[in-house]
Amino acid sequence: MRKCKFCGKETGIFLREHRLALCEDCYPGWIEKQVDRTIKKFNMLNKDDRLLVAVSGGKDSLSLWQILKKLGYNVSGLYIDLGIKHNNYSELSKEKVINFSKKIDSSFYIISLKDEGLDSIDRISKIYRKTCSACGAIKRYYMNKISVKEGFNVIATGHNMDDEVTTLFGNLIQWDESYLDRQFPVMPSGDGFAKKVKPLVFISEKQSAMYALTTGIDYIMDECPYSKHATSISYKENLNMLESKHPGILRFFLNNFFNSKSKKGLQIEGSKLEIKECKICGAPTYLDICKVCKIKENINR
Ligand code: AMP
Ligand code: FES
Ligand code: ZN
Repeated sequence: MRKCKFCGKETGIFLREHRLALCEDCYPGWIEKQVDRTIKKFNMLNKDDRLLVAVSGGKDSLSLWQILKKLGYNVSGLYIDLGIKHNNYSELSKEKVINFSKKIDSSFYIISLKDEGLDSIDRISKIYRKTCSACGAIKRYYMNKISVKEGFNVIATGHNMDDEVTTLFGNLIQWDESYLDRQFPVMPSGDGFAKKVKPLVFISEKQSAMYALTTGIDYIMDECPYSKHATSISYKENLNMLESKHPGILRFFLNNFFNSKSKKGLQIEGSKLEIKECKICGAPTYLDICKVCKIKENINR
C-alpha cells in the first residue's frame, strides 16, 4: 500500500501521471488546487464575476459547481431540461441537479425545451441526424440567453481533459483550422456572447469521477443516449490506451497546444464573420435566422 504524500496515511489512490499518492481526505483539496491553478493560469475568473455554471447532472459539471463554490466564486447553476425519455434520463438528471443545489446551497435556473417551443431532443433527433450538434447549439443558445437576461458575465462548463483532448485530436485529424483557432479554455466575451471558461480542462475523467466519489457527489451515471458518435468513442479509447502506456502524455499534448497558442496570442481571435441579430429572436448569430429558431421552425412545421 502506498502512503499519502500529504498526511502519510495508507491509500489506494495513485495518480500515475503525477506519480502522486493521496488519501481520500487529501485528494479533494489537491483537485481543487489544480482547478484554481488553471483558473489563474488562463485568467479565467475574478472574485467579482457573476458566474453561471452549466450543469448536466453528471460528475464533471456537479464537481465543477462545488469546486467553484468552495473557491469562493459567486456562482449559480443552469440546467437545461432536454426532455430525453430514454432511461428517464432528463428527469433523473434534473433531480440530481436540484438535490445537489440544496446540498451546496447554491441557486440555479432551469430551462425546459418544452416550454421554449422546442419540444424535446427526442423529437429533434427524428429530424436532425446529427442530434448532438443540434443539441449543442441549443445548449449554447440558452447558456448565453440566461447569462444575458440574468446579468451573469461568465459561463463555465464542465468539459474535462479527456473531452478536450478528444476534440483536439478530431480537429487535427480533420485539419479543421477554424475549430483549432477557437479551441481554448477561455473564450472572451464580445458581439453579444458572454465569456466562456472550462476550468476542468486539465482534470481527467478518472480524476473527476474520483473527486465526485471522495466528496460524496450524487450524479447521474448514465450517458446521454444520443451522445457521441462512433468516431469520437474510438478516438477516446485509443487516446486512453496511449495514456495507459505513457502516463501524462495527454496532458502534455493539450498543455503544449494551449501554450503554443498563448505565445502567439491566437486564442483571442473570435470568428471573422460579421455578427448579426437573429430576425426572429434577436439573439447574436452569423446567419439571418439563428440555429435555434431554425430548429423551432423545422419541428413545428
Ligand atoms: P457534454 O457536451 O454533454 O459533454 O457536456 C459538456 C458540458 O456542457 C457539461 O460539462 C455541462 O457543463 C454542459 N451541459 C451538458 N448538458 C447540459 C444540460 N442539460 N444543462 C446544462 N448544461 C449542460
Ligand atoms: Fe444533447 Fe446528448 S446531451 S444529444
Ligand atoms: Zn433566433
